[in-house]
Amino acid sequence: MPEVSAKRSEFLSFQPPAISDAEIEAVAATLRSGWLTTGPRTAELEARMRDYLEAKHVLAVSSGTAALHLSLVALGIGPGDEVITTSLTWPATANVIVHTGATPVFADIRDDTLNIDPESVRSLINERTKAIVPVDLYGQPADLDELMAFGLPLVEDAAHAAESRHRGRKVGSISDLTCFSLYATKNIAAGEGGLISTNRDDLAEAIDDLRVMRRGHGSTYDIAVPGYKANLSDVLSSIALVQLDKIEQHAAIRERHVAIYEEGIAGLDGVDAVARDPRDHHANHLFVIRVTFADRDVVQQALGEENIGTSIHFLPVHRLSAYRGRMAPNQPPLPVTERAGDEVLSLPLSPAHSDDDVRDAVAALHRVHARLAG
Ligand SMILES: Cc1ncc(COP(=O)(O)O)c(C=O)c1O
Repeated sequence: MPEVSAKRSEFLSFQPPAISDAEIEAVAATLRSGWLTTGPRTAELEARMRDYLEAKHVLAVSSGTAALHLSLVALGIGPGDEVITTSLTWPATANVIVHTGATPVFADIRDDTLNIDPESVRSLINERTKAIVPVDLYGQPADLDELMAFGLPLVEDAAHAAESRHRGRKVGSISDLTCFSLYATKNIAAGEGGLISTNRDDLAEAIDDLRVMRRGHGSTYDIAVPGYKANLSDVLSSIALVQLDKIEQHAAIRERHVAIYEEGIAGLDGVDAVARDPRDHHANHLFVIRVTFADRDVVQQALGEENIGTSIHFLPVHRLSAYRGRMAPNQPPLPVTERAGDEVLSLPLSPAHSDDDVRDAVAALHRVHARLAG
């Protein structure tokens, strides 16, 4: 058990960005270049991410949400269709299905990794099912091989999974479409932004038409489809490029912090880390425990009083107001999701934290456990 030291004097933020002078200088250089919107920095980001993700095409867009939405639109999904996804996710994953006019159907999750359960997916597939949207939760890839075997298009929500590998293959090179987020807390953080990777030429072309109104010259401009405005600016791409330079360095810090947590919570009854599949490479986007020694919300409050910032990933989407009362008629109960939604608690994890910050979080958890357990 770690030293039961005193409460931290300063609040430990949950997931502060790790931004240095290099990002600031990159933004200044872009602003001086005269390109504010999509231009050479975005093209460079796409090219470098093609290499990094081992994918044929990478398209930069304005957010992870836009990446998911355009992916579904490119697949032609619309009213009357059903799309199977998980409820233990950020609402964006399900919202984009609603935006296309299709109906989200939530499969239950595995009790160990909390990723979508292929057996539950299998039981929900019918003639209206047009795609599956798995989430690589916390950085642990979903069971992509089992999901692909159903023969439906896979739109993988890899918002947490920039560095992940599934059975040796890079996430981003496996599904029909893989969607990443560059949001402020993500492993490649530009503030906002998203990326779509695909090996399919037809889908890359469709998304390219959808993400921005293409302009020609003078009276010759034309559009192939009534598209959206979801391109990424060079200002944000220039931040993402520096973050990409640091990805290995940041991954090493995350890995070290996860090891401190794992050692620190070992032996704490009623505190369990979410399982990882040793055959995969986990991106360590979040370190999430399941809290059963006391009410999760009480534990979160107590950690806050200890000056430790935490978060919840996630409250099940099907329980949120926007979704209550609009479930698909074939929506089954989701007992594993419901229980996980009551137990998960995310501890501070960021390359901006020091090892001592993480030790402070562990010590605080021990104090809270000693006070609240049994
Ligand atoms: C699992 C998941 N999917 C999708 C998104 C949406 O990404 P963005 O915030 O870039 O739109 C997020 C993130 O924030 C997320 O955590």
